[in-house]
Amino acid sequence: GVQNIGIIGMGVMGSNLALNIADHAYTVSVYNHTPRSTENFVRDHAHANIIPYYDLQQFIASLEKPRKIMLMIVAGEPVDQMIARILPLTDAGDIIIDGGNSFFKDTQRRTQVCREKGVFFVGMGISGGETGARRGPAVMVGGESTAYEKIRHIYEAVAAKADDDKPCCAHVGPDGAGHFVKMVHNGIEYADMQLIAEAYLLLKEMGGYTHAELADIFHDWNTGELHSYLIGITADVLAETEDGGSVLSMIADRAEQKGTGRWTGIEALAEGVDVSLIIAACNARVLSQVAGRRRAQIVFPRPERGQVKAADFVEAVRKSLYTAKIVAYAQGFALYQKASQTYGWQLDYRRIAEIFRAGCIIQAKFLDTISTAYAEDAQVENLLFHPFFTGKIKEGEHSLRQVAALGLAAGIPVPAMAGALTYLDAYAGPCVGANLIQGLRDYFGAHTFRRTDKEGNFHHVWREHYKR
Ligand code: 6PG
Repeated sequence: GVQNIGIIGMGVMGSNLALNIADHAYTVSVYNHTPRSTENFVRDHAHANIIPYYDLQQFIASLEKPRKIMLMIVAGEPVDQMIARILPLTDAGDIIIDGGNSFFKDTQRRTQVCREKGVFFVGMGISGGETGARRGPAVMVGGESTAYEKIRHIYEAVAAKADDDKPCCAHVGPDGAGHFVKMVHNGIEYADMQLIAEAYLLLKEMGGYTHAELADIFHDWNTGELHSYLIGITADVLAETEDGGSVLSMIADRAEQKGTGRWTGIEALAEGVDVSLIIAACNARVLSQVAGRRRAQIVFPRPERGQVKAADFVEAVRKSLYTAKIVAYAQGFALYQKASQTYGWQLDYRRIAEIFRAGCIIQAKFLDTISTAYAEDAQVENLLFHPFFTGKIKEGEHSLRQVAALGLAAGIPVPAMAGALTYLDAYAGPCVGANLIQGLRDYFGAHTFRRTDKEGNFHHVWREHYKR
């Protein structure tokens, strides 16, 4: 074969990535399970470097060796099925790349399956949606270094470039590391979006701002420290109209999810890392969907809402968003730190923050600061202890407390903002009530406790002081 790379899956991501790779002077064979998608793709996007195939065997045979076969298909079962179909057609040394949002443990398992045939398996997280795939995504690669060395020229060429021109593409670790990094990226994306939604809701409900006014506010925020892709598109979404009406007002108030945020929450619970903002964001989406909402609205009327339309309220909400966002990212990166130990991945947190600077959904000015923090102290226990973030938390905590309290008093759900405060209070509080938890555990189950005045484990013979 002669083509440089093959892509299976002509959905939105696969077809745009094929065009992007082809634009970089690589020849690309494309294939799709149902031929119609391939036909439509080559009809609409004729490209000299893209050659369609309608037979899997011919598609594989068209590739130069070692073959680079990229899967851009629906995560889950379809990936296993496709691997089973292509493995018999491959030779030792070939590389199968899974560019979907696969669960990292599936990637670890698939790596083993392929290894038995001498085939490399690369689990690749790709972020940036349609535009990213077409113009430059962020790429998080998990797999063996030998495999990465053979594909890096392609992916570093097509990936987004940060301001310093470095490609937003990196080999982050072996087997499932790339998909893990992508999974937590998505978890952070959920938290980020939830915080933005809370800021929007507070300003709309308590500030009484119209969508058009809010668009200007978010646009203005995007010129400062909150500068990011998500804040930018929030302004766009708020500004959009159809027949003179706000499009946002026409969107049903129910948020969906494909599951990467939920996986992040589950893995964090398993690792014993608190990612409360990500879990709050998942729960907020779940609760937005429940059928009982309509009934609850009638049964439990919300408190009266005062109005606070003032410039300093807008500024307080902005600060709250920024402060809580720091907590969300600190939690996400704490999960990287823990998982890196658990799986022996030796993740480079600085490089992860660097590749998030452009191309991906959470791309932001902010990521520069995180990468600098890790450059200064690669082992920092928690990002909140980096002097820059410590300073920002101290600066914004008061606003966050006021704004979250206003939301709580007015019956406006602010689970992520409140979660950020709760995290801070539990982290920094001198006593969090865990002494009582331990006393109770020891009372009913002789689980023992540690003492503040002596070393060791202690059990107390608890007495019944009161008749029950
Ligand atoms: C990205 C996005 C992308 C996708 C998610 C959204 O980084 O480009 O995260 O992976 O939009 O599937 O996830 P939900 O459908 O769960 O919101």
